[in-house]
Amino acid sequence: MNSHINLKNIMPEQLKHTDLDRVDVHCSPPDFEPQRQYYFMAKCRQYVKEESERVGHILTASVITFGCQMNARDSEKLSGILEAVGYELTECEEADFVIYNTCTVRDNANQRVYGRLGHLNSLKKRNPHMRIALCGCMTQEPSVIEKLRRSYRFVDLIFGTHNIFKFAELLCDMFEAEGMTVDIWEDTTQIVEDLPVERKYPFRSGINIMFGCNNFCSYCIVPYVRGRERSREPGEILREIRELVSDGVVEVMLLGQNVNSYGKNLKNPMSFAQLLKEVEKIEGLKRIRFMTSHPKDLSDELIQVMKESEKICRHLHLPLQSGSTRILKAMNRKYTKEQYLELVEKIRREIPDMAITTDIIVGFPGETPEDVEETIDVVRRVRYDNAFTFIYSRRTGTPAAAMGNQVPEDVVKEGFDRLLKVVQDTARERVAELSGQIHRALAEEVNGQDPAYLTGRLSNNTIVHFKGDKSLIGKILPVYLKECHGFYYIGEISQENTEKAGV
Ligand code: 5AD
Ligand code: SF4
Repeated sequence: MNSHINLKNIMPEQLKHTDLDRVDVHCSPPDFEPQRQYYFMAKCRQYVKEESERVGHILTASVITFGCQMNARDSEKLSGILEAVGYELTECEEADFVIYNTCTVRDNANQRVYGRLGHLNSLKKRNPHMRIALCGCMTQEPSVIEKLRRSYRFVDLIFGTHNIFKFAELLCDMFEAEGMTVDIWEDTTQIVEDLPVERKYPFRSGINIMFGCNNFCSYCIVPYVRGRERSREPGEILREIRELVSDGVVEVMLLGQNVNSYGKNLKNPMSFAQLLKEVEKIEGLKRIRFMTSHPKDLSDELIQVMKESEKICRHLHLPLQSGSTRILKAMNRKYTKEQYLELVEKIRREIPDMAITTDIIVGFPGETPEDVEETIDVVRRVRYDNAFTFIYSRRTGTPAAAMGNQVPEDVVKEGFDRLLKVVQDTARERVAELSGQIHRALAEEVNGQDPAYLTGRLSNNTIVHFKGDKSLIGKILPVYLKECHGFYYIGEISQENTEKAGV
């Protein structure tokens, strides 16, 4: 008798340890989460098993991620479920099931997905068992769904950002359906905990602390595709991190579109700084990172917590977007050039070794070459350790898309090149300042070009390559920064006492 577990009687945190092959899938599914999803995982296991037997090998699945760290984390959740239902995970697109977890922040991300879908179609023609799914930010756009329904009929499953937690249920629907399964929600207030996750790295992990965004920067599609801000309960976040640490994680990255507004809408409100203090107390955890901070609400309390912390990394990603107060206003960013510069000055005064990185957009409607000069001025003054520069992309439905004064392509390109040169020069100078110092680096992987080397990351996010054995991966080691090569270092493991080497 292999069906005698009734999921309705199992506590959420026990579900991950439940033998899914013993779950009774002949009764009706639980109508509460996350038990309901485990029911569908158990059911799906049978479908995957049957089909594996039919095709003569264990079905393989590949999750391909586009876009940001949030998507990377979501992909780990998708992988966790695929593994739980019996797929063998692979990085190769010639798999029995391929999922594209998409990004739509700029139009070129969408175009890339359409292009690659064409390629998947040709693979599917060769492998009739192949299934294709699409999820993530792109699928939250109605125009995308229309296009997929019209011209991409070979896609089997389409779901969005709000219902990703019911992936197991959707997989079952896909196995049972003929043709395309589409399920897109407009928004949600739901956060489902305790679903399986398959981490890409054993020693570090992203942790969602909040979902969505309420800022409505006028160029940005994120609030429309990721919905309103929802914070996770601090207890759930801390429990997840404790579990990860006991499973070998030493570094966490707390993820949110704007972590500085964490906790405002909780039943018992809590600030991001307070959450960080709690995370800091977790024994065995060595490094804490977070992403992204909106400059408009980066508090003094947060600066103090970072300053006093032994674990929070010396890296702050502080998107500028533009250095022109006039453009910032049109972008709805809610700070001026001067306020941004004052904030940076305050951070550097309190924490001099803090690396600051940023995002900048060139070509926002109405931007003149003088506005770009203002942005360049900020870059020169702040001296960013790195800056991601983007050409403005017109996103349907955002206020900026309806603005009349779109900038001609050649003007944008000219401003972009001018900015990029300054960004690269200042970042190179900043990174070079570490030459000859000893810093702690987390060894992350074997170097792609020379397997005698490992690639590691300093607290301030600088990359260093150094000779070392792969048994050191996941360890934090003192590394002497010997040669600066533009944006990275060649170093060597230091034998010196490294008490002063930092996080
Ligand atoms: N065009 C170009 N860049 C954009 N970003 C967000 N929306 C757009 C857009 N419409 C950039 C911002 C943001 C980063 C994640 O992407 O700089 O910080
Ligand atoms: Fe987009 Fe602004 Fe929200 Fe960032 S803060 S996700 S740029 S709307």
